[in-house]
Amino acid sequence: MSDRVTLSVIKADVGSVCGHSRPHPKMMRVCEDVLKDGVKAGTLNDFYVTRVGDDINLIMTHNRGENNSSVHGLAFEAFQTAAKAAREMKMYAAGQDILKDAFSGNIRGMGPGAAEIEFKERGAEPVLVFMADKTEPSAYSMPLCRIFMDPFTTTGLVIDPRAHEGFKFEIVDVMDSKKIVMSTPEESYDILSLLGDTTRYAIKRIYSKHADVGVGACVSTEKLNLCAGKYVGKDDPVCIVRCQSGLPAVGEALQPFMFPQLVAGWMRGSHYGAWYPCSVEDSDPSYFDGPPRVCSLGFQISHGKLQGCEDPDSPLGVHKPVDYFAGSVWDEARRKAVKASIYMRQHGPFMPGILGPEEMEYTTRPAVLKKLQDRMEKID
Ligand code: 13P
Ligand code: 13P
Ligand code: MG
Ligand code: MG
Repeated sequence: MSDRVTLSVIKADVGSVCGHSRPHPKMMRVCEDVLKDGVKAGTLNDFYVTRVGDDINLIMTHNRGENNSSVHGLAFEAFQTAAKAAREMKMYAAGQDILKDAFSGNIRGMGPGAAEIEFKERGAEPVLVFMADKTEPSAYSMPLCRIFMDPFTTTGLVIDPRAHEGFKFEIVDVMDSKKIVMSTPEESYDILSLLGDTTRYAIKRIYSKHADVGVGACVSTEKLNLCAGKYVGKDDPVCIVRCQSGLPAVGEALQPFMFPQLVAGWMRGSHYGAWYPCSVEDSDPSYFDGPPRVCSLGFQISHGKLQGCEDPDSPLGVHKPVDYFAGSVWDEARRKAVKASIYMRQHGPFMPGILGPEEMEYTTRPAVLKKLQDRMEKID
């Protein structure tokens, strides 16, 4: 076991009340029970169970490193137990993200998504966990570029000596099942040349180039790996951003979300809608199964455990992270997101209201074309 701490955020949609809205509280509770047993057994140091829209997010700390089979097995057991509860209650899409029944050592390829970072705990260790519903991993590309590459967002890139050295970006190419590590600031334009194509490229990880700092960010990209050759990874991704002291400040990491960019997903995973920053409580999709939501929860990692701002008299194990997008400052972004989403909706089934043909999660086009093939005439 390592003296380094691992923060694992593993998520899945295993069913929800009335369409793709929110998991039943019983489903969250059974996840908590499984993870409590994981703490007792020494697999985990600590955990917090939360959700965004219909996705359950397990936020866990331990000393077992990334891709640990005991930790992944525990998360899978939690989701399977929650899926069972969902089926018993006849929840909508019960067991949606459980693609396989038998666990084989790693959650990757089984349906759930995972973002994990391992690091040596600093004197103070602030982390943000972003959780999104109704969108895809490449949605994080624009905000992460602003946070780690853009000095007009992160003044720290100019004035913090360690952040000033720049960062390494691990970028995945979904179509070719490839990855590449690129360096900022010198390769910034090349990085943007790739990441601007959100249908093909996404960020997996960002590292500091300074020897003492380590990992800065990680995104869950599991479905992208699964679906190599075709971009269908609208797996409602999570993203961890580690902050301060050589990394972007918390406020620098939050700032880009004030722009409600258009992201792919939304209704039936087949539309562009504006990303709506909100509290966990406000994350139920309420307009055309959206607009796509993003939440941001802040913790300190302290002695290998999660530390929020809970009252010490509250029940043990119940953490209270800072729910950053709950505040009224974000009303402005929400208002813009709703306005942009209404505008996009007015396109109905026309692009760019709907996604390009390669990205649609639902389509009738092959069947329609087949039906029409005899009537389709060549133009001279
Ligand atoms: P403090 O001086 O309050 O720690 O703030 C520094 C900082 O990093 C602000 O983002
Ligand atoms: P989820 O991916 O959140 O389950 O949503 C699916 C969908 O089709 C929403 O309209
Ligand atoms: Mg769902
Ligand atoms: Mg979802």
